[in-house]
Amino acid sequence: MANLATTYMGLKLKNPLVVGSSGLTSSLEGVVACDEAGVGAVVLKSIFEEEITAEVDGVVASGRTPYMHPEAADYVRNYGMENAVGRYISLVSEAKKAVSAPVIASIHCVSATGWLDFAKRVEAAGADALELNVFVFPSDPEHDGRANEQVYMDAVRSVKEHTSIPVAIKIGSFFSGLAHTAAGLCEAGVDAIVLFNRFLRFDFDLEKMELVRTGHLSSPDEMYPTLRWVSILAGQLECDLAATTGIHDGAAVVKQLLAGATAVQVCSAFYKHGISHAGVILGELGSWMDSHDYASVADLRGKMSQETSSNPASYERVQFMKDSVHKK
Ligand SMILES: Cc1cc2nc3c(=O)[nH]c(=O)nc-3n(C[C@H](O)[C@H](O)[C@H](O)COP(=O)(O)O)c2cc1C
Repeated sequence: MANLATTYMGLKLKNPLVVGSSGLTSSLEGVVACDEAGVGAVVLKSIFEEEITAEVDGVVASGRTPYMHPEAADYVRNYGMENAVGRYISLVSEAKKAVSAPVIASIHCVSATGWLDFAKRVEAAGADALELNVFVFPSDPEHDGRANEQVYMDAVRSVKEHTSIPVAIKIGSFFSGLAHTAAGLCEAGVDAIVLFNRFLRFDFDLEKMELVRTGHLSSPDEMYPTLRWVSILAGQLECDLAATTGIHDGAAVVKQLLAGATAVQVCSAFYKHGISHAGVILGELGSWMDSHDYASVADLRGKMSQETSSNPASYERVQFMKDSVHKK
């Protein structure tokens, strides 16, 4: 039987399947269920910087939410701000006592340092690692890309200076120089980059003439941008890569590992099929490895990255030169 064990950010994982930050990991029961399902690690639901700094008083209610992630606004409306920090710290320490899988805390940040003291408390509570979910919405014409990206770099630098647990950063793909940014994050000391975050989507309701939430969960064909970029970045960066978005089955996990990912994060497939789907995914991964004579995850990691390819240009081909869509 193939050995699924791997090392992610220096942490020993029994397999590369990680439950991504979400409602699945917002309670002790949820975290225990993930652990019992056999996953390699869990990323706790993010605490939002706005909850930590408690700067939202009057802001959510007034609808003025310039720097607030919509999910934070929802969360605050639903659960209130009271003792969010205390509850989160308790979740970290209780989860650590209850499960054997590494527990990765998660902070959604909109600034580089507003949450630093909290990061130290998370470490003291026993978190095995910290994942920063940083997103600076690039919608302000006054802010150039360099200024926005500096927030990501400074966040990593400051948290690495003030804590000693491994740190991952989860990013979206809205960077004009993605590979350069990723290299900068590694240079700033990050232990892993998680790509790509999947953001909330909205649609227009044409009758009510208002915004409506849509596409809460991913579909399997959303994994291709991640597959491309993991393949391209894997051979170029010193830090680990975790793949996320659209990974729903064992074949998708195999592909991301072949691209060069060290770990994969899954949420939507667990929402759709239940956390027991982890066993299905791991079974498919193990069977594929057995039938293709891979004894360990390390043996297959990066086997199809751009770096190892005899045709690296094909990884950067993005336009249709001819009509290659065959009509029936
Ligand atoms: C209901 C829900 C809540 C989520 N909450 C968070 C969160 O608090 N922090 C975070 O970094 N990502 C959050 N995510 C994003 C997931 O961690 C993941 O990156 C995204 O869903 C893509 O993976 P998937 O295709 O497997 O769902 C959430 C996703 C869902 C569906």
